[in-house]
Amino acid sequence: MSKADLPANLVIVDHPLVLHKLTLMRDKHTPSAVFRQLLREISLLLAYEVARDLPMTTQTIETPLAEMEAPILKGKKLVIVSILRAGNGLLEGMLDLMPSARVGHIGIYRNPDTLQPVEYYMKVPEDIAERRVIVVDPMLATGNSVSAAIQRLKDKGAKDIKLVCLLSAPEGIKHVNADHPDVQIFTAAVDRKLNSHGYIVPGLGDAGDRMFGTK
Ligand code: URA
Repeated sequence: MSKADLPANLVIVDHPLVLHKLTLMRDKHTPSAVFRQLLREISLLLAYEVARDLPMTTQTIETPLAEMEAPILKGKKLVIVSILRAGNGLLEGMLDLMPSARVGHIGIYRNPDTLQPVEYYMKVPEDIAERRVIVVDPMLATGNSVSAAIQRLKDKGAKDIKLVCLLSAPEGIKHVNADHPDVQIFTAAVDRKLNSHGYIVPGLGDAGDRMFGTK
């Protein structure tokens, strides 16, 4: 998939700070504690981009010098849905920037033989239909798990969904976009390909293992 074949609603957040931190995360010598910290820092920058179109209004306030009509958020309700377990690494930075967002969790893992998603947990706010849903998962690989998770959220009534992934493979982007063309995807980088085990190459390895040192 060349850049020209990437879907129009894909946003690549290739900011110098993001790319620098991502390079440090990719390095296999980076320890887990540093990896987690970098992921948190990058998630702040991704949150900044995903929040760009939040509706605004104004409010009359007084500065020490004058009254003014000042821009404020209109109050669109948000929910950040973390795909366990690696999604939690992106969740924390997102909450730093959007502290009043609700949080949902979907436990889903890929069967290592079939690479198909298996769901084992789901808890999201009941009023999800009225909320902007930001799904977070660091690695968009085959897209099987993320696509299944988005479908479950839609089944619960979610209508306004964005997906934030740190790293993506062309295959995953294509898959999610084919299943959910209404979902805008934000990612820091699109890597070359998937290997035969469904890992992103060059990638950064298993994000959950890198975060939690479980290898
Ligand atoms: N999940 C990961 O953690 N890493 C990959 O490369 C692919 C899926």
